[in-house]
Amino acid sequence: MQISFRVEPRDEWRCDALVFFGYEKEQPGGGLQSWMEGPGEWLEDSVALADFKGKAKEITVAGGPSGSLVKRVVLVGLGERGKLELQGFREAVAAAFKRCRDLELGSVGLPVHAFDDIDWTLSLLLEELLVSAVLGLYSYDELKTRDTDQSKQPGELLLFTQEPPAGALEEALAAGRSVGQGVILARDLTNAPSNRATPTFLADTARRMGEEHGFSVTVYEPDQVESMGMGAFAAVFRGSCEPARLIVIDSAPAGHEQDQPIVLVGKGVTFDSGGLSLKPSAKMDEMKTDMAGAAAVLGFFQALGGLDRRCRVVGILPCTDNMPDCRATKPGDVVTTMSGQTVEIVNTDAEGRLLLCDALHFARSFDPALIVDIATLTGACVVALGKHVAAVMGNDQELVSQLQEIGDAVGERIWPMPLWDFFFDELKSEVADMKNVGRREGGALHAAMFLKQFVDDGLPWAHLDIAGPSRADASTPLCPVGATGFGVRTLTEMVRRKVCGDKGSASQE
Ligand code: BES
Ligand code: ZN
Ligand code: ZN
Repeated sequence: MQISFRVEPRDEWRCDALVFFGYEKEQPGGGLQSWMEGPGEWLEDSVALADFKGKAKEITVAGGPSGSLVKRVVLVGLGERGKLELQGFREAVAAAFKRCRDLELGSVGLPVHAFDDIDWTLSLLLEELLVSAVLGLYSYDELKTRDTDQSKQPGELLLFTQEPPAGALEEALAAGRSVGQGVILARDLTNAPSNRATPTFLADTARRMGEEHGFSVTVYEPDQVESMGMGAFAAVFRGSCEPARLIVIDSAPAGHEQDQPIVLVGKGVTFDSGGLSLKPSAKMDEMKTDMAGAAAVLGFFQALGGLDRRCRVVGILPCTDNMPDCRATKPGDVVTTMSGQTVEIVNTDAEGRLLLCDALHFARSFDPALIVDIATLTGACVVALGKHVAAVMGNDQELVSQLQEIGDAVGERIWPMPLWDFFFDELKSEVADMKNVGRREGGALHAAMFLKQFVDDGLPWAHLDIAGPSRADASTPLCPVGATGFGVRTLTEMVRRKVCGDKGSASQE
């Protein structure tokens, strides 16, 4: 969908559908009344307008007379004025664009004044509208040869205004477009089957993105990873015929190469069979999404590339299948991690922490300002918080609270879990410095405690367990069944607020 401003007097607006918003029990506002006094006079007597109740996500379409430059008006319900939350606005927008797609409309118009009656700032609403429209229309069609929805999507979104848009609105357009593209990239990569989204494919994606946006991308092959001493990562990839990759992306703009970066580490298990601790076959296919953490980091870089303010962020993505083979790690094997600490691998299905522990240690070489890792790490986290909520744990209360608050602002629910030292008792091993699993109960906490052993005290670090929300089992207004792209928005907003000197998207307001 092409998105652009059109600076035109309103009687020259031309589109297949013009969108306005309305609250329940109120006349639709946001410039609709004045538009009806001019070119939209025809709407005044329309039955559709009379039928429109303004309920949340209600969409009413009113057809215009033949010859009208505006072919239809789409009225979008926001529910009761006092009860509207940003998530409700996002869902209403998504519903409106889906209706436009179902009607196979070519161009959708939106008067910038349509936002006048909604509480948040114009920039925030525009950015959220653009992201929500794109996410609501999303479907993974890359591998379908028929019955696709993509071809029916509106070709253009025209943002009508009578005065040239302020700089802040231009920025909001760029930000909304970039963030939307970032989430979509993460969804596409995560929905792609494991025979397509291999570690090599992810590395190629990172390289292409690096070329497009001027990021430097380094890709390490399995023998290089082994010679760097990453014994835990190697213990996972040795059982797989599909070659592993360690991908490192550095966004440092010229002059900022020596800045202390934010480091983002993403779990990139392109298929998790469990290894020799084989998973049951029911739903094993869903384990193609076990690289959603790495995909979220790639999606973040895609978004960052389109944003105005550049700052140094380093992404570290250990990517591999977890497979059973004659060279696979056997339960009980002991490996030496890059940090020098030894780990008894009691269960080869707890592989995510094995890649991440080496990646977290490797992160030290970048002298980070802070580290956030993101991973589909434990089924226990899904048991604890359900399908829609990610857990955050870490060694820095401020960072943990910020991530929770940012998630809330961008529509990604994140909830803190504790990380008390005594959790390490679960990981004590008879033969090594630690084992890779504890008891079943509290499994998400033990996984986080395991990771903590690989981060220096005093270096702010947070771990996001996205095993639940990375994949939707049922469709929602903003996402069909499958990958959600969870994390892209939180990571992007965190970087915008923290380093880039940006006050962040208006989501804070
Ligand atoms: N990839 C899984 C975690 C997972 C489960 C992600 C469900 C998404 C949905 C992870 O590698 C795993 O298998 N974890 C085990 C750990 C256990 C062996 C300690 C688990 O959660 O069962
Ligand atoms: Zn596993
Ligand atoms: Zn896994």
